[in-house]
Amino acid sequence: MKRIGKETNIQALRKISNLFTTTSVEVDELLAMVMDAAKDIVGVKNGSLLLVQDEKTLKLQFYQASGENTGQLKDIDLPPGVGISGSVAKTGEAIISNDVTTDPRWYQGVSEKMRTPVQSMASFPLIIDNKVIGVVQFLDKVDGSTFDKTNTEVLERFASLMAKFFQVSQTRNLLGREFGKLKEQYLQRYTIVGESEPIKKCIMLAEKVADSKATVLLNGESGTGKELFAHLIHDRSQRQNNPFVSVSCGALPASILERELFGHEKGAFTGADTQKIGLFEAAHTGTLFLDEIGELPMDMQVKLLRVIQEEAFMRLGGTETIKVDVRLVTATNRDLEKEVREGNFRQDLYYRINVIKITLPPLREKLGDISDLLTYFLKKHSPEGQPVKKPGKGLVAHLRSYSWPGNIRELENSVERAIVLTDEEELTPEAFPFEISQAPIELNVGSTLKEASDSFRTTFISNTLKSTGGNRTKAAQVLGVQRSYLSRLLKELGIN
Ligand SMILES: Nc1ncnc2c1ncn2[C@@H]1O[C@H](COP(=O)(O)OP(=O)(O)OP(=O)(O)O)[C@@H](O)[C@H]1O
Ligand SMILES: [Mg+2]
Repeated sequence: MKRIGKETNIQALRKISNLFTTTSVEVDELLAMVMDAAKDIVGVKNGSLLLVQDEKTLKLQFYQASGENTGQLKDIDLPPGVGISGSVAKTGEAIISNDVTTDPRWYQGVSEKMRTPVQSMASFPLIIDNKVIGVVQFLDKVDGSTFDKTNTEVLERFASLMAKFFQVSQTRNLLGREFGKLKEQYLQRYTIVGESEPIKKCIMLAEKVADSKATVLLNGESGTGKELFAHLIHDRSQRQNNPFVSVSCGALPASILERELFGHEKGAFTGADTQKIGLFEAAHTGTLFLDEIGELPMDMQVKLLRVIQEEAFMRLGGTETIKVDVRLVTATNRDLEKEVREGNFRQDLYYRINVIKITLPPLREKLGDISDLLTYFLKKHSPEGQPVKKPGKGLVAHLRSYSWPGNIRELENSVERAIVLTDEEELTPEAFPFEISQAPIELNVGSTLKEASDSFRTTFISNTLKSTGGNRTKAAQVLGVQRSYLSRLLKELGIN
């Protein structure tokens, strides 16, 4: 009788257990390994794995086979419930048949395909959560002996191991799908919309510098997308799978900010009963986003400068120097050069954080993006399961006539509000009741001539109408145009 060395068995098992802990290995590979190990340890000629294709009929399909003459097995079409494996699938009980030729359940098709007579067979169900998901079967011992009790026990254990692998792989697939959904939501959250030249330039610059470690200063008015760009830079860098840690320098008093950034040792100050790592450490290998850097108190500016220069710091109350690899992105809506001139911001720190500066344009300088942004926010803020509302006639022109001091955030909020307050499917200019006359329109580069002139005409005509108390005939006189032409203009520009 051929004996398989104990060493070989242990090696095979060790290999399997290593594989099981390696997440990158595919379940098919694992199953093939287990099958081979079972085959070798018990000394069988071939083994195969069949999976239930149809839960109702329990029809089985060959999935994997290894050993002599198994090449054809994958093509066998097994009628449901037929053969020894069909019975195993139906009853959920193992069958050991040491003379299949006299077993009425034996399906001749298998030996015909394999072109060798089969003598004995051990067949086990693969069960997950009380449900048979497949069958694993072993045919003929290498030494011609029959399957004994020990063989059966060993094979049965392997069968239950294979079932576990399937279960893990199912969970993994499920997790994979969940992960995919989360990723989609994440990407949606950080989508940057806009095709205008000024925003395209900013995106190109951000993408270009993403992979370097250079510090980036994001400058721009409130609501222009600075935080969005900080995420863009991180997501396009090689650090994308490492932490993105964000802190607002304006939100915390200096002493707390210091603890947050650098962490502290146990007992560093009253109330520090445990050691705590700071945000610099938390962001190690990733990106640290210091928002509202212009609000950073002077003494913290000194401390930050030191960390940037030395790439190392100490926790509060600590003696050990901690080295970190952190990419720094900062943002402010202040004019930092002015702050430096006025003595509110350290010049040396300014130079350090200002290696790459990206200045985000205010919305009034990229009015051409309003249409795309509107479409995007309409979709983003429509309640799930409800149709997405459409922009009605004149709405885009109306929105372009406003100066948007709160920039894209203001636009987003007003779209969200309009969706809630409008019952109809179309959003009209009335759903955005801002005072156009209060909106000084700046005709900046980046809009098309038509956009700029529509914008100007909307503001100018609206103001004139206002000054005549809404009297169109008077307004036409002031403007020096025909009354009918003014009506046409009002319609075209969506002015009411
Ligand atoms: N180009 C854009 N495309 C889509 N959404 C945008 C865009 N720019 C900004 N937003 C959205 O506008 C809102 C404000 O953006 P963000 O918070 O990035 O601005 P900010 O410059 O950091 O503002 P603040 O200075 O007030 O902190 C966010 O909800 C953001 O998703
Ligand atoms: Mg912000």
